[in-house]
Amino acid sequence: MRCIIEPREMQVWSTQKRCQGKTLALVPTMGYFHEGHLALMRWAREHCDVLMVSLFVNPTQFAPHEDLKAYPRDLPRDAELAREQGVDVLFTPTPESMFSKDHAAWVEAPSLCRGLCAVQRPTHFRGVATVVAKLFLLTSPTLAVFGEKDWQQLAVIRTMARDLNMPVEIIGRPIVREADGLAMSSRNIYLSPEERAQAPFIHQGLQQIRGLTEQGETDANILLAALGEMYQRTMPLAAVEYMSLVDPEQLFPLEEIQGPALLAVAVRFKTARLIDNILIPVEERL
Ligand code: PAJ
Repeated sequence: MRCIIEPREMQVWSTQKRCQGKTLALVPTMGYFHEGHLALMRWAREHCDVLMVSLFVNPTQFAPHEDLKAYPRDLPRDAELAREQGVDVLFTPTPESMFSKDHAAWVEAPSLCRGLCAVQRPTHFRGVATVVAKLFLLTSPTLAVFGEKDWQQLAVIRTMARDLNMPVEIIGRPIVREADGLAMSSRNIYLSPEERAQAPFIHQGLQQIRGLTEQGETDANILLAALGEMYQRTMPLAAVEYMSLVDPEQLFPLEEIQGPALLAVAVRFKTARLIDNILIPVEERL
């Protein structure tokens, strides 16, 4: 496995590979790999000639009060795990080489950033879209793979690639979970044992609400009230940041479920903010 730090070197290397007619896959990450990241790499490995993984804790997607400094990091372990997945290039640029002090150009998709995580994190997706656009320009991928855990992020990136004619196919892959249902996240290590014991109820609640829709309930207010009640009962250590039923592509809120819907939540424990979602497909309802 080759490690590249310099953005310019990455750009030259990937451009050469693409000119040679190879298919290139990129898995963008912020490191501290868990099974969710590794599943994306394994899928990508099967679908390209050259597999690139970027590891960059992107400062522009963290607000000043957020956990940029405390974000978990372990490069030697991550490099070993990437090598085991058959990664060809691990790209680990420095913050200074990616964002100069007078950085001024941004990529935004405001219509997808009115709700969900953007309410509490208003500048987050601008940072994500901009760094992903830069990573695409530096790695020339044929396809790029993202997890559905960060559904809003995936929607923003799909829209960015479509609207800006980026020559890359965006692939979304399912959420990888712990045995008890908790969605894997680099931030799960922040949870205290008591919080960790309550966290699986995030997913259980989502499943129960999907169960209600399968029994014919379509009123978003009723469904969200039931979820709020469940969370209050099962997760006394958590504060719900949002619970939303939205259109899965445009992300606007739904009052009534008539087609496919996404139920998405963010929950704050003292030490970590966790997100999760579940798709409610139309055919599962009566
Ligand atoms: P990070 O949180 O490291 O996640 C990297 C990729 O792994 C993202 O596409 C994310 O959706 C996916 N992922 C994380 N947990 C997952 C899980 N449990 N199951 C499936 N996929 C999972 O997301 C980012 O980094 C950054 O915002 C990034 C896109 C790299 C831009 O900086």
